[in-house]
Amino acid sequence: MAEPTRTAKLTIDDKVIDLPIYSGTIGPDVLDIRKLYAQSDMFTYDPGFTSTAACDSAITYIDGDKGELLHRGYPIDQLAEKSHYLEVCYLLLYGELPTLVQMKDFEGRITRHTMVHEQMHNFFRGFRRDAHPMATMVGVVGALSAFYHDSTDINDPWQREVAAIRLIAKLPTIAAMAYKYSIGQPFVYPKNSLDYAANFLHMCFAVPCEDYVVNPILAKAMDRIMTLHADHEQNASTSTVRLAGSSGANPFACIAAGIACLWGPAHGGANQACLEMLREIGTVDRIPEYIRKAKDKDDPFRLMGFGHRVYKNFDPRAKVMKESADEVLGLLGVENNPTLQVAKELERIALEDDYFVSKKLYPNVDFYSGIILDAMGFPTSMFTPIFALSRTVGWISQWKEMIGDPTQKIGRPRQLYTGSAFRNYVDTHHR
Ligand code: ACO
Repeated sequence: MAEPTRTAKLTIDDKVIDLPIYSGTIGPDVLDIRKLYAQSDMFTYDPGFTSTAACDSAITYIDGDKGELLHRGYPIDQLAEKSHYLEVCYLLLYGELPTLVQMKDFEGRITRHTMVHEQMHNFFRGFRRDAHPMATMVGVVGALSAFYHDSTDINDPWQREVAAIRLIAKLPTIAAMAYKYSIGQPFVYPKNSLDYAANFLHMCFAVPCEDYVVNPILAKAMDRIMTLHADHEQNASTSTVRLAGSSGANPFACIAAGIACLWGPAHGGANQACLEMLREIGTVDRIPEYIRKAKDKDDPFRLMGFGHRVYKNFDPRAKVMKESADEVLGLLGVENNPTLQVAKELERIALEDDYFVSKKLYPNVDFYSGIILDAMGFPTSMFTPIFALSRTVGWISQWKEMIGDPTQKIGRPRQLYTGSAFRNYVDTHHR
């Protein structure tokens, strides 16, 4: 970490404590409170981490007020337009855009690892047919550590690298297998002549009895969805991966923890919840009723796909996603899709409504992604697994960055205790 740029003074009663201030490349400065407890016997209190930087990182930067997302400095809209998912993976993992030779080598390394251990097929068959694919994925990704012992030593940089490559390569295979299992179809092996996104679509939609040719336009849209979800700074699932990793847990276990966190409807599960909500609304005339519900303090209903902890402006990913939705539905000849009409009208009404404007609630990445995935033929239960496979590169890049830092410590938050003070145990017959 760089030297402090200045010092803040914190006065507690008659004691003055100096707190160093650090500046990043861009973004808000941070107050260093690491010695606060030793100096003041007090903790800071910040449930939900609304004002707390838990690490320093050089991977992704978000300016929530501007609605800007940068990966290693490059804006997401440029990456979505000009780059492709595996190139963004390289950028996130290694810090720079690859040369042609580096890209070819990276693609070769990923491609060599797309299959999963044959015995994992038996592992899948232990799940109920109707298990949610996210439930299957949490289990199967955690189980990778039981199949790939030679990449679980976190102290060996080479094993860390192999684990990262394996995870990026195998997650689409695992997600597709979870899907195939849930619909009672045979698993489709990866086809390494296809690119990453096309291969995923092939594993999901091909069947052994028929030829299946991946539509290149859908493969491009899939690649873009993956690119838009690749990393997002210290969000809940990434922080989960870091916290799990801080104890020295192996990378497969850490990514399984990230998948579990992502599943929640306030996070990655929102894309499924959003499409379900749009379908429930059904027609444009019912929108005002749902806007009323979202604004009602006594109603737990929230407009899914709206609002974000960090973005207080348009989520830049949502803009690209909206364009993609128009493009894909247009190409499939379903531009009059009623769900898309409801989504657009809902967005228009919410963006003019005082409640949403004053709270700076804008559409997030999930608002349009479900419509595209639905048009491609995915059931809602596959939306979050697709998010998970796309985010794996972000999780593993952040994990590698943390483990590679010699000053890294186990994460151990403290608390404001509000339970009983000391009391003596009372025997059952005296209670
Ligand atoms: N609909 C209606 N009201 C909302 C919404 C919403 N979607 N989101 C926030 N609000 C309101 C809250 O009720 C709160 O109102 P109050 O100040 O009167 O109490 C205010 O806006 C602030 O909301 P918080 O929940 O405090 O904001 P927080 O930063 O904790 O939550 C979150 C962010 C979880 C994303 C929230 O906006 C939400 O639940 N959105 C819907 C779920 C969703 O789309 N999640 C995906 C996020 S992106 C991602 O993970 C890829």
